[in-house]
Amino acid sequence: MPSYAITGTSRGIGFGFVRALSADANNTVFALVRDFSTAGQLLDFVKGHPHKNIHVIEADIADINSIKDAAQRVSELSGGKLDVLINNAALNLLDHERGHLTIDAFPSEETIDEDFTLYFKTNTLGPIHTMNAFVPLLRRGEMKKCIVMSTTSGSPKVVLQSGISQFIGYSISKAGLNLAIAKTAGRFKDEGLIFVSVIPGMVKTIPGSDEENEKFFKPFVAKIREVYPHFEGPITIERSVEDMISLINRLTIADSGKFIHRDGRDGDSE
Ligand SMILES: NC(=O)c1ccc[n+]([C@@H]2O[C@H](COP(=O)([O-])OP(=O)(O)OC[C@H]3O[C@@H](n4cnc5c(N)ncnc54)[C@H](OP(=O)(O)O)[C@@H]3O)[C@@H](O)[C@H]2O)c1
Repeated sequence: MPSYAITGTSRGIGFGFVRALSADANNTVFALVRDFSTAGQLLDFVKGHPHKNIHVIEADIADINSIKDAAQRVSELSGGKLDVLINNAALNLLDHERGHLTIDAFPSEETIDEDFTLYFKTNTLGPIHTMNAFVPLLRRGEMKKCIVMSTTSGSPKVVLQSGISQFIGYSISKAGLNLAIAKTAGRFKDEGLIFVSVIPGMVKTIPGSDEENEKFFKPFVAKIREVYPHFEGPITIERSVEDMISLINRLTIADSGKFIHRDGRDGDSE
């Protein structure tokens, strides 16, 4: 009876993980959301679910007490253990009005400090605090696996090769997260705990239709394909999640600390 806790499940890839994992009645899914009041589509999904194997719990990953309370609640429901932690929640590129800027385009130095701090707090420190809160449960789980959601824009090598210099705060926060995973993997390797940084692909989670998503991603796809002609382009949430679940099942201790694509390729390549 594998158990999964996923952060940021109100929409996008996180909600996709809940849909896919809860389809197997043997799984128990802990769907963590920042705020019940903005998680309407998830709550509706859970209400109509045939297996009743999803528990929705509030967890704001930018708030340490909220994370600790969520881990405590999961522990009470699971008998103190968890198989897989999926650190999915993040402040995304478009969740901030200045998220798309390059390093020289901010209106003031203060806004750089403000924005970078916010991205770092949510996307780097958030998963760090979440991992710390859930390690005691993972230790008692069978699978002992944890992934964080990363991005090629957190790879200095890919950024340099592709020349995409926007999304600076987001990208730096994810690069920090990649290193946090390497450090955490080293710390817990002897105990058999596996921590991996996974790139989900370019996934169509922009609010709006499939066409609107294609339009948004088009200039970036063109730029990436100048350097990496075989770049796959935007994919559906379902495809990304299916591949990542398969990856999670294949991960071994030899993978711990790696930064990889959802098919297992090195993350420092496209
Ligand atoms: N989509 C892509 O192409 C892509 C590519 C590379 C990496 N990723 C990574 O994959 C993950 C999921 O991406 P996505 O596109 O599905 O994102 P998304 O559609 O923007 O959804 C982000 C999720 O994170 C939640 N969240 C934001 N701040 C939070 C906080 N402080 N506490 C708890 N939850 C919070 C949001 O909750 P609310 O609804 O309450 O705001 C939402 O559920 C992210 O880590 C992202 O960086 C995505």
